[in-house]
Amino acid sequence: MRAAALILLAAFAAAGTLAYAQQEDRMRGTVPVADETRPPPLRNPENKDVRRERAYSMQPPTIPHKIDGYQVDLNVNACLGCHSRGRAPVTQAVAVSVSHYMDRDGNFLAEISPRRYFCEQCHVPQDEVKPLVGNRFVDVDEILRGAPGAPAATRK
Ligand code: HEC
Ligand code: HEC
Repeated sequence: MRAAALILLAAFAAAGTLAYAQQEDRMRGTVPVADETRPPPLRNPENKDVRRERAYSMQPPTIPHKIDGYQVDLNVNACLGCHSRGRAPVTQAVAVSVSHYMDRDGNFLAEISPRRYFCEQCHVPQDEVKPLVGNRFVDVDEILRGAPGAPAATRK
């Protein structure tokens, strides 16, 4: 009885390993998990200078221009050279919002908050590529438009 159980267990384990080996990740391709993939060459980011729609109200907007060579380190922040409150009227860039001047306790600071100093933590340029993984995301406006009781004008 015990031997039979053991054989069954071994068979399950083998089947499990097989299934694992066959698993394919859309981003890794067929490269086994323990190996490193060869990353695709960097492409040219989209540089159309047209601000993109946000998927939800508090989304950090994606960057609609190239950022090659814009240094952000201890001594200099090239982004703020255009996007800071003081520089934006001169450069016509979108000024960083008030949230970027708030510390974690909600106090407004005179200078950009250290929490928001490294812009690329949250804001990223975009490439014109086919999405690697599919998704079924639906914008909240879309949902509201289809909701029962929504004013006719907002319905599609
Ligand atoms: C030479 C000035 C300049 C520099 C430097 C610059 N930007 Fe911009 N940025 C702009 C302008 C102007 C726009 C408005 C859209 C456009 O013209 O590209 C913009 C748009 C944006 C937007 C979109 C805002 C929105 O509401 O959709 C983000 C995010 C952004 N920049 C982030 C950055 C980051 C991060 C850096 C540094 C890595 C940076 N920018 C450096 C000028 C600049
Ligand atoms: C910790 C994440 C984070 C960091 C770091 C950050 N941002 Fe943002 N940013 C956001 C979010 C979230 C929003 C949208 C909500 C808001 O305005 O707070 C935003 C909004 C913006 C906007 C649009 C403002 C508007 O009124 O439409 C600009 C421009 C911007 N950020 C630029 C920058 C720049 C330049 C830096 C670096 C100095 C930076 N951000 C750092 C998260 C971040």
